[in-house]
Amino acid sequence: MSQAFSEGDASATPSRKVFVKTYGCQMNVYDSQRMTDALAADGYVATEAMEEADLVLLNTCHIREKAAEKVYSELGRIREIKRERERTGAEMLIGVTGCVAQAEGREIIRRAPVVDLVIGPQTYHRLPDALRKARVGEKTVDTDYAVEDKFEHLPQPKSAEIARRGVTAFLSVQEGCDKFCTFCVVPYTRGAEVSRPVSQILAEAERLVAAGMREITLLGQNVNAWRAEGPDGKDWGLGRLLFRLADIPGLARLRYTTSHPRDMDDELIAAHRDLCSLMPYLHLPVQAGSDRILKAMNRRHKAADYLALIERIRTARPDIAMSGDFIVGFPGETDEDFEATLNIVREVGYAQAFSFKYSPRPGTPGAEMKDHVPETLKDERLQRLQALLAEQQHAFTQSRVGMRFDVLIDKPGRRAGQKAGRSPWLQPVIIDERAGEIGDIIPVRITRTEASTLFAETL
Ligand code: 5AD
Ligand code: SF4
Repeated sequence: MSQAFSEGDASATPSRKVFVKTYGCQMNVYDSQRMTDALAADGYVATEAMEEADLVLLNTCHIREKAAEKVYSELGRIREIKRERERTGAEMLIGVTGCVAQAEGREIIRRAPVVDLVIGPQTYHRLPDALRKARVGEKTVDTDYAVEDKFEHLPQPKSAEIARRGVTAFLSVQEGCDKFCTFCVVPYTRGAEVSRPVSQILAEAERLVAAGMREITLLGQNVNAWRAEGPDGKDWGLGRLLFRLADIPGLARLRYTTSHPRDMDDELIAAHRDLCSLMPYLHLPVQAGSDRILKAMNRRHKAADYLALIERIRTARPDIAMSGDFIVGFPGETDEDFEATLNIVREVGYAQAFSFKYSPRPGTPGAEMKDHVPETLKDERLQRLQALLAEQQHAFTQSRVGMRFDVLIDKPGRRAGQKAGRSPWLQPVIIDERAGEIGDIIPVRITRTEASTLFAETL
């Protein structure tokens, strides 16, 4: 492995500052951290203030139309800040990374000439090179699907830097998607499914735990499609990987996201049954409840398959909290189709969910379909769906009152005298600050709720 910045390396002089703004999903949060690590080797330290940054990176999301438009308006604002900085003689380089970079490429520099570099999600290990060029006035647009493995080329963060990030970490194990749901840009922006090798994942997880991480969330656009050869020479799936990760001493909690119903295999369900460190929470998007719409979306399963799957998962792990994603107003969606979505929500009972109006994405089959649903109807349907999901989320939160369970303390509370943690089902839990230290896992009893936050007393 090429290790550009090793533990204890004192040669880099941290003279420049980088401000990274992250849009979109958790994988972008992870990628932003890895980019920050790559830049640390180049002498950059992270800053929270854009005004004092020598380099501004927007790590972007392209999943819905508004996300991309937000990037262009942010670039307009940054241009003004750059002008201010230049008046004082300071430099400010500007980079766009992530999925908008991948999808729009050179178009970004055409629309926003202030941008110095455009780098897609598969090549951000080449960022230091692009910066060297930018400093001599040469712009870079790099949206290749790199042949080399970016993870092999990325420097590891120092353990002090990992520790600064808290006690919960993301770890990307899989990227890209081969499912081609007809509404989705991911197969185009993130490319084909790629799984990281077991040895790389274990080394990264062990490193995180050694630096004090108590919880790791495995990430992938289609995380449960992860497959690789295990050290035993056998083909491992995500379930097997979770069993192995659960053996790492000190790693108290495991999670993974996002999954596709088609890839929930028996071993993964067994992991939910057998591993107490695998948290009872599953984000398993169904998107819609009508078989006709599921087919048009190319989801490759029917509503009944999804319900049968949830039943198997709940048999294995009865207290599991379900989370999902939903799209309303996919082309051709009738009132009856929409009712079927409400019905599947009622049948499952979600603890938490994300719901969106369908947004046509250029280049995806959905955008070319006929019978687009009028915006006002999408609004109306989204409101109804969100009201139902909010009711279910409220019921789930309420049902925790009086329960006893373990909480991982992960940060100081917002108010004086408090600390905050997470329940096994991912709700924030507020406790007295003397209840324990950050990183401790302590038993509590829930006394009351406020919106989706739980308040607890220690036992
Ligand atoms: N329009 C609306 N929502 C979308 N999603 C993905 N593509 C689109 C789109 N074109 C939603 C899906 C997915 C989540 C990450 O974003 O629900 O699961
Ligand atoms: Fe997009 Fe997920 Fe479908 Fe892949 S499985 S195309 S990432 S919605």
